[in-house]
Amino acid sequence: MNKWFYFNFLLLVLGVWNIIERVQLPFFPVHIAFGALGLFFFLFNWTRHAVFSTMRNTSNKQTKIRLANISKKIVPYHRWIGTTALILISIHASLVIRLFGLDLTNEKLTSGLLAGTVLTAMVASGWLRLLWPSVKKRMTHIWLGISLFLLVAVHLIL
Ligand code: HEM
Ligand code: HEM
Repeated sequence: MNKWFYFNFLLLVLGVWNIIERVQLPFFPVHIAFGALGLFFFLFNWTRHAVFSTMRNTSNKQTKIRLANISKKIVPYHRWIGTTALILISIHASLVIRLFGLDLTNEKLTSGLLAGTVLTAMVASGWLRLLWPSVKKRMTHIWLGISLFLLVAVHLIL
């Protein structure tokens, strides 16, 4: 399996772990719920990178065909899942700022703002790529994704 599947799984575990630590059921704070949903939507779309990398690197024709078929089915939803992730995270951010204020000494908040900025660029590059495709935009979309992955990991760890 491609290494990105493992990285994505680790980020998912880290996210779920942090969420469980913050939540005391039956109380599930709304700002955490929106952050959690945003994380799941982001990870779902980012798994496309793991799938594409596997397709490029595998010599097994059967695996290639199977992954290409799954990937084809998901294409029409990809843009809406990414856009929804941005909407969910915008709600997460506005709820958080209403709760704690725009306190830039709060590391969780500043790392979140950075991740939110890159997510906005990610969604914008996706739409630009769809409307006016180019190799440069494809690479931008992928590199923004890798940066976003790292920033989200920092946001969760802090
Ligand atoms: C891709 C973007 C983002 C994702 C996936 C995300 C995800 C999460 C998740 C899952 C949590 C709960 C678990 C934990 O506390 O570690 C959380 C908490 C938090 N997030 Fe985000 N977030 C993002 C962007 C932002 C933005 C833009 C802000 C800025 C306002 C922000 C501020 C915070 C803060 C302050 C907390 C701690 C809340 C608390 O202590 O109750 N996040 N985030
Ligand atoms: C959370 C946000 C998003 C993430 C993590 C993400 C991630 C990815 C990844 C990993 C790929 C495959 C890269 C490759 O090897 O070419 C991809 C492809 C693509 N993305 Fe996104 N994306 C996001 C949002 C969007 C949005 C909002 C659009 C809007 C149209 C979009 C449009 C595209 C297009 C057109 C492709 C190439 C077609 C294909 O998937 O085969 N993306 N994206």
